[in-house]
Formats: sequence, structure tokens, C-alpha cells
Amino acid sequence: MANIAIFASGTGTNAAKIMEYFRDNPNIKVCLVVSNKENAPVLGLAQRNGIEPMVLSRAAFYETETMLDELKVREIDFIVLAGFLWLIPPYLVRAFEGKMVNIHPALLPKYGGKGMYGMNVHRAVKAAGDAETGITIHYVNERFDEGDAVFQARCVVDPNDSPEDIAHKVQKLEHKHFAPVIERLLAMPDHQQNNPSNHKK
Ligand code: GAR
Repeated sequence: MANIAIFASGTGTNAAKIMEYFRDNPNIKVCLVVSNKENAPVLGLAQRNGIEPMVLSRAAFYETETMLDELKVREIDFIVLAGFLWLIPPYLVRAFEGKMVNIHPALLPKYGGKGMYGMNVHRAVKAAGDAETGITIHYVNERFDEGDAVFQARCVVDPNDSPEDIAHKVQKLEHKHFAPVIERLLAMPDHQQNNPSNHKK
């Protein structure tokens, strides 16, 4: 049995897909949804799905290691960042090395880094006139969007696409691929999970 915690700051459409995908899975369970925002819709979503919601304060997250204790108590094996906008502190990166992934709405290393989230990314893609964009699922390290990539999927950007059109295309890719990629990672033995070259596509 693998226990997943999802960290999310906002709406939680990816979290919703992941909850739905694993709902009847006998081996993988979404146990906890953590948000840095008290009123994030993703927390209500968790509650409606019978999953424990948790609000994280900045002080507790960065100045203590209580989050690690909370995860240990719940026997969490894997962390999924689904639109979580805070940098992960070193103690948590170390404890979940090779067992924490993030989804980014672009083809990293393009359009990554601080401030590059949500519509900011799609506006930058549009401004650059790129002919394609996509998603990257990657391991998490101590810097924004720099961990080893596990998976990428691409979509065409038409010259007439608005940033909202691009966002829509990218979201479709996220919803299609994120949960199955998590499932594949969890099916790998631990030593393989820690070696990104084993699952690059
Ligand atoms: C997703 O598009 C995800 O890729 C992005 O936030 C969105 C969350 O949407 N994450 C980043 O930009 C991280 N840099 P959701 O709340 O509907 O799942």
C-alpha cells in the first residue's frame, strides 16, 4: 500500500483528477491534502472526497519540521505537488528524495523558476511565439522547477491561440497524464524511483 499526500495552493483540478483516479485502487490511497491557503477550494474538495485536509502555516513549514512528523504519523510514502506555490524546505526534500513530484505547465527548463506559475507561464509562451508547449512532471529539489524530469507531453500552440487557449490545452495534458505517471512511479521499486534515468520518456 502506498499513501499519497497532495500539496496544492488553489483550485485543485489536478488534485481532483488524482483523487478520482486512485479512488478504487486497493494499493494506492490519497490520504491527505495540504494547502498553504485556508480558503483554497482544494481543501473542500478533499473533504467531499473523504480525504483529510490540512492547512499549513508559513512559520510551521519553514521554521519547524512538524510537517515531517505529520507525514510520518500518517505513513505517507509519496508527495504530489499539484499547483503548490511554496518552495519545499530542505528537510522535506531530503526526507522525500525520489518520492516527491511536481507538475509544471510548460516544457521545462523553459518557463520555470520563481513567479512562473499558472497564467504567467502561458502568457510567456504566447509572448515568445513558441509553436509548442506542454507539461513537465519532475522530482522536487530545493529550487523551483529544477528537479530531474520524469515525463513530458507536448501540444501545438497555434498562432491565434490566446494564453487562455494555451492554458486549456495544457490543462488537458495535465489531467490526462499526471495520475498515470504517479501510478507508474509508485509501481517502481524504491531504488529505481531514485534514479530518474529509469523512467525518462
Ligand atoms: C497547474 O496548471 C500546475 O501545472 C500549475 O498550477 C496549476 C494548478 O492547477 N503549477 C505551477 O505552475 C507550478 N509552477 P489546479 O489547482 O487546477 O490543479
